[in-house]
Amino acid sequence: MDPTDQTSFTCVVNGEHVVLAGDDTTPAITALRAHGLFSVRETCGIGVCGTCTVLLDGEPVSACILPLYALGGRTVQTAEGLEGQNGELSDLQRQFIASQAFQCSFCTPGFLMSGQALLDSTDGPLDDEAIEEGLQGHLCRCGCYAAITEAVRECAAARMCGRAAARH
Ligand code: FES
Ligand code: FES
Repeated sequence: MDPTDQTSFTCVVNGEHVVLAGDDTTPAITALRAHGLFSVRETCGIGVCGTCTVLLDGEPVSACILPLYALGGRTVQTAEGLEGQNGELSDLQRQFIASQAFQCSFCTPGFLMSGQALLDSTDGPLDDEAIEEGLQGHLCRCGCYAAITEAVRECAAARMCGRAAARH
């Protein structure tokens, strides 16, 4: 690429204002990984496997088919942004461990992002049908689907209990 073709795009990534560089053809995943966000993983590169999923203004998107310029002025969250300031794991990350919802873990960041969006979209419990619908488009070659569904279901239930306890 001719360096003179470079364009900069400013967005908020995991709570911080960043400037990502690329051109009109640069996919978002390339710029995010160049920024050190290696949880954004490319497998198929054509938007069908879910390993590159990030949240764009809270909605899951495939970063492999998203042009970098689409991030301009938007808010992006990756799996690195799920952790708290002191590096503690999020409730969903902890539940993935408790439910043993991975083997090789290559698909895990993508599942976590869509799981996070699903959890944030409801105050109530999530049944398996809703979870499977929310996680459709994600593939796990290790076949951990049942454990992943359990992790999201248990996390939704725990959040509900936490909200109920906070009201009393
Ligand atoms: S790598 Fe983006 S959907 Fe498969
Ligand atoms: S845990 Fe290996 S691909 Fe999902």
